[in-house]
Amino acid sequence: MAYCQEYDPKDSNNDSDFSVSYKSNKILVAAIDFGTTFSGYAFSFKSWFETDPNKIVTNSTWVAGQKNLISLKTPTCILLQPNKSFHSFGYEAEEKYAELALEEEHEDWYFFKRFKMSLFNNTTLSRDTEIPDDSGNKKMPAQKIFSHGIRFLKNHLVKHLESSHTGLNESDIHWVLTVPAIWNDSAKQFMREAASQAGIKDTHLMISLEPEAAAMYCRILPVEKFVSGGGGNLGVFKPGSKYMVADLGGGTVDITVQEVLEGDNLKELHKASGGAWGGTKVDENFMQMIVKVVGEPVIQRFKCDSKSDELDLLREFEIKKRSIRPDATGKTAFRIPISLTEAFEEINNGADLRQSIKQTPYAKHMNWVGDKLKVDNAMIKELFTKVSDSIVQHLKDILNNPVSRGVDTILMVGGFSECAMIQEAIKTNFSHMKIIIPEDAGLAVVKGAVLFGHNPATIVSRKAKYTYGVKITRDFKEGDPQDKKYQVKGRNKCSDVFSKHVEIGQTVKVGESLNPQSYFPLHSDVEEVVVPLYISTDEDPSYTTEPSCNYLGKIVVPLKGSSVKDKEIVVQMTFGGTEMTVEAEEKKSSKKLRAQFDFLDH
Ligand SMILES: *[C@@H]1O[C@H](CO)[C@@H](O)[C@H](O)[C@H]1NC(C)=O
Ligand SMILES: *[C@@H]1O[C@H](CO)[C@@H](O)[C@H](O)[C@H]1NC(C)=O
Ligand SMILES: *[C@@H]1O[C@H](CO)[C@@H](O)[C@H](O)[C@H]1NC(C)=O
Repeated sequence: MAYCQEYDPKDSNNDSDFSVSYKSNKILVAAIDFGTTFSGYAFSFKSWFETDPNKIVTNSTWVAGQKNLISLKTPTCILLQPNKSFHSFGYEAEEKYAELALEEEHEDWYFFKRFKMSLFNNTTLSRDTEIPDDSGNKKMPAQKIFSHGIRFLKNHLVKHLESSHTGLNESDIHWVLTVPAIWNDSAKQFMREAASQAGIKDTHLMISLEPEAAAMYCRILPVEKFVSGGGGNLGVFKPGSKYMVADLGGGTVDITVQEVLEGDNLKELHKASGGAWGGTKVDENFMQMIVKVVGEPVIQRFKCDSKSDELDLLREFEIKKRSIRPDATGKTAFRIPISLTEAFEEINNGADLRQSIKQTPYAKHMNWVGDKLKVDNAMIKELFTKVSDSIVQHLKDILNNPVSRGVDTILMVGGFSECAMIQEAIKTNFSHMKIIIPEDAGLAVVKGAVLFGHNPATIVSRKAKYTYGVKITRDFKEGDPQDKKYQVKGRNKCSDVFSKHVEIGQTVKVGESLNPQSYFPLHSDVEEVVVPLYISTDEDPSYTTEPSCNYLGKIVVPLKGSSVKDKEIVVQMTFGGTEMTVEAEEKKSSKKLRAQFDFLDH
């Protein structure tokens, strides 16, 4: 570990031009939306973008087995063979795994689903982070699993292109990968590296933030393509107007607030925020309800022995989840697989599930008709209550913040926005606001990411999500804690000082670098300068050891070929883009150095 000490920060006279590399000639932009529950892709040619930006191709016919379930996206799940080589992705993986389970041949295979959440709020994410497979007793490196998924979607898209548009090289494709805006820098870097392992060149890849992308899509959508509210013509996107984007996905709820500027550019008004209140929480509540009826051991047995029945039950719920309405009375019927009834009998010494339900507190709310269990809609609606309350409360908190003054519109996007229950919760709690929902809310993110790829300059500034700073050593001052005091060559020094680069909530222009700082190594023989980076949720932390602070990673600047005297370097970072960037140069010679972040050093 090389310790660095700060020198006089010099004023910036450096109008940086970091964003230019993205303006290069992009014949085709392709976006991959790697979601918690569902994934998809979309693309458009530059020539289309210029004449009809709405012309964006997606694969909207993912077919689920013999069930004739056709969907706009495919489930995010991956199956690996016993030797850990890739087998399949999406519906195919789900069905193959269920089939293997039926033959009791699945135990050596690796099946992963809903693993994207492992990157959310993970402050110790590293390249070696492992995730458990479906069985819970086998693990694989998460980065490997993500890269399998990205590679599958990439290859699928390339094949799609080859079959319809000849004469295109893979190097002509510019890729965009979407991530939640609330993700931290480690998770973004993790995805970029996974994409690189999947064969997407670093220079051909951009990261786009999901709610921002969705907003870009809503802006160009004609009025008739909204199920609620309306698009551009109605003035929602005219200069001066302010709106909130609520991207309600399977895993996370991801919120951003934007203002439209003159010239149709966008500015972020409130730092991205949200939480883990996605649609899968409702699925979990549904399974919990079933557990309460049949008991945990029965569910364990059922999940273990009857994968394909479990899959059917969840798919059925997925469909009913979207359509159940807040004013629904009566009951909703679910086909209960015979294997579940049998598991119940086995575990309960032959007791009959139908009779047993009558003895539970649910007797009044459920009854059987044939192989269907009919459940009071009041109970089904309950499954949404906690989740929608969390979402509504969070939206209220943001709207009550002074920076949101003047926001009069909520854009609802993401697959979970397609649920009538959620739509209604937002509409009733924000009846004074205009609620806008595009027809294909679940595709808004991936289509918007294509638009973002063609023209990333649309978003001109963002709000810093954290206070970012560097851990430095400086002269000891009165008031510094004694336990941070140590001596170097007879002088008192203070360690663990938080040297702030940008403050939480601060507006930062895209491409603008703030406070270039000089550093030099404490020891003259180091080969590289390593600058430890910290984030904080406080506006002005003093020491990196405070509870609000977390180690984010490091900046590494190799010093190869520089003489000892020249080892003083100037480091500058940009915070306004979808990813942070860093540049460094030797102070004396102004020679550029290859500086890099490593946010996965945990
Ligand atoms: C979409 O993907 C499915 C499944 O791989 C494939 O059968 C279909 O041909 C694709 N559709 C298009 C338009 O390429
Ligand atoms: C893994 O197993 C499959 C099926 O047996 C085989 O086709 C594949 O070549 C194997 N891969 C490796 C890396 O051994
Ligand atoms: C939203 O509105 C519903 C219906 O009026 C109400 O029951 C609920 O408490 C509200 N939620 C929040 C978080 O205020």
